[in-house]
Amino acid sequence: MQTQTATRAALPDATAVADAARTLRAGGLVAFPTETVYGLGADAANGEAIARLYAAKGRPRFNPLIVHVPDIAAARRFGVFDPTAERLAAAFWPGPLTLVVPRAKDAAISELATAGLDTVALRAPAHPVAQQLLRAFGGTIVAPSANRSGHVSPTTAQHVAEDLSGAVDLILDGGATTIGMESTIVGCLGDHATLLRPGGVPRSEIEAVIGEALHEPATSAAPTAPGQLASHYAPRAGLRLAACEVRDGEALLAFGPATLPGARNACAVCNLSASGDLVEAAANLFAHLRALDAAGATTIAVMPVPNEGLGEAINDRLRRAAAPRTLP
Ligand code: TXA
Ligand code: MG
Repeated sequence: MQTQTATRAALPDATAVADAARTLRAGGLVAFPTETVYGLGADAANGEAIARLYAAKGRPRFNPLIVHVPDIAAARRFGVFDPTAERLAAAFWPGPLTLVVPRAKDAAISELATAGLDTVALRAPAHPVAQQLLRAFGGTIVAPSANRSGHVSPTTAQHVAEDLSGAVDLILDGGATTIGMESTIVGCLGDHATLLRPGGVPRSEIEAVIGEALHEPATSAAPTAPGQLASHYAPRAGLRLAACEVRDGEALLAFGPATLPGARNACAVCNLSASGDLVEAAANLFAHLRALDAAGATTIAVMPVPNEGLGEAINDRLRRAAAPRTLP
């Protein structure tokens, strides 16, 4: 399902950065250096571009992505910063620190970027090329590490090319990254800041700024098992997978051009992609689940989605949303 494109590589002069910004605006994928590792960037507001990013990485799961911003002023448009988050941003941005904060109302970020969560991970990278790209683009950029899923994170443009050639439109070659490990991720979501992932900023430096010890995340909130976050969005309604008819009172999450018996009586209908396009379906997944949930049905009938390409991640998400759970 992966579209093969001719990957361009360029030294990051002003022309290449302008080209990269145009590529992002057109929904393309740009690999760029940050001080930690190379990121695989897409427009954070463009769900289909983010879906293609997942396809390029071959990630079998949707887990939330880091939204890159030029500075704290930009970050405040997308997340709600409590005094601890403000202090950490002031101390370490731009730099190798990611802050997870409540998502701002009306933040112009695709639901796929945050995997449907009500929180958002924000980072202002220090690398001059990342900064130039963010400013030339003028929007926010989601960027997981620019490697195929399961491979090690890339610290040179050469690593990116080895892993993703043909799957990324443009690689900005800014030489080897200086830190070589991912950003530290700190959650600022409640009374205490939590360490979600160790990384480029040492724990002790963070604790010195906030004046107390970092807490451990509650049970399974650690992002070490991507997509398993306890706080992941789960619809209130039950999901009935592989539905071949719509029963009384059900909402319908459709896929493809076919209709199901009983579909006309569904209390609400959303189609992930009427043409059966998995990229479009991935881009719509979280927003459609939310919309059907809001319609108030107790059960959402879900049509089968082929388990190929992005279908694997879509089905993973649907299965986990369908699994019985105890609501808080
Ligand atoms: O250094 C870095 O952070 C690099 C560069 C490119 O910026 N990016 C990076 O992204 O490491 P990625 O996708 O490999 O890792 C993002 C991590 C994941 O473990 C994800 O679960 C976590 O951030 N994350 C993102 N949003 C989150 C949220 N709302 N709550 C908790 N964890 C979140
Ligand atoms: Mg990674």
